[in-house]
Amino acid sequence: MIWSRIGRIADLPTNVLPITTIVILTGAGVSQESGLDTFRDRGGVWSRVNLEDLATPQAFHRDPAQVHAFYNDRRARLQQPDIQPNPAHLALARLQRDWPGEVVLVTQNVDDLHERAGTPRVIHMHGELLKARCEQCGLILPWLGPLSVVSKCPACRDYGRLRPHVVWFGEVPLELPRIYDALARADLFVSIGTSGSVYPAAGFVGHVRSEAKVRCVELNLEPQSGSGQFDESDYGPASLILPAFVDRLLGRVPPG
Ligand code: OAD
Repeated sequence: MIWSRIGRIADLPTNVLPITTIVILTGAGVSQESGLDTFRDRGGVWSRVNLEDLATPQAFHRDPAQVHAFYNDRRARLQQPDIQPNPAHLALARLQRDWPGEVVLVTQNVDDLHERAGTPRVIHMHGELLKARCEQCGLILPWLGPLSVVSKCPACRDYGRLRPHVVWFGEVPLELPRIYDALARADLFVSIGTSGSVYPAAGFVGHVRSEAKVRCVELNLEPQSGSGQFDESDYGPASLILPAFVDRLLGRVPPG
């Protein structure tokens, strides 16, 4: 065993750590302290609204105006001035900048807080709220305002075919080949602020565990039902435990 607790990574010279590629998976818990709601915690999004009415292709075809209204609200909220990256987003940007190896950041979040924190490369497996996609011609374009049933695609000029560029239940997440390629290279897998309820992301830890060399770390507010699959866990607000974890990885923990 290279290190048996997160804390011990600081005790080891970084050149003996056989960690080159780090794959990070983030979930809604990383953005919670920025003021964005999680989904399944008490008071979370899916406790207030029925996801089948709002986050499925069937819902969109049944009542596109209702689905647009839901995502328009979330898009507007994301752009309010009080919604800013928190120290967890900043720590991950620092890790991607300063780690001598590769850091692949995969997020289930549709917000842009990782990018705003300065992370240049983010894989948004559940899409991006600030983009729209044309169901007719496939164009993906930045979209900051409301979408409606009469919004016009600038490429094919069809009306009413633009939808939020987010993955709905029953749809295949984005960029899976790139993600599984990265998981195959990973030496360290870190899951942060996700309940591990939605597949395929929930299955990443099991997938990498089949590779004996991959260490798996969970960072969350509290233990989750899948916590037993991880080699290490640390619990607390992401804005506190993640910067500390990154400091340890980068060997920047003050002595004592
Ligand atoms: P969930 O709402 O399912 O889980 C949020 C997780 O964040 C929980 O495990 C919390 O314990 C943890 N958490 C909350 N606050 C935290 C904090 N301050 N610091 C650290 N952890 C905290 O959200 P996700 O797991 O991201 O998909 O949900 C996965 C997917 O389900 C979402 O991408 C979305 C949703 O339905 C789609 O919409 C397709």
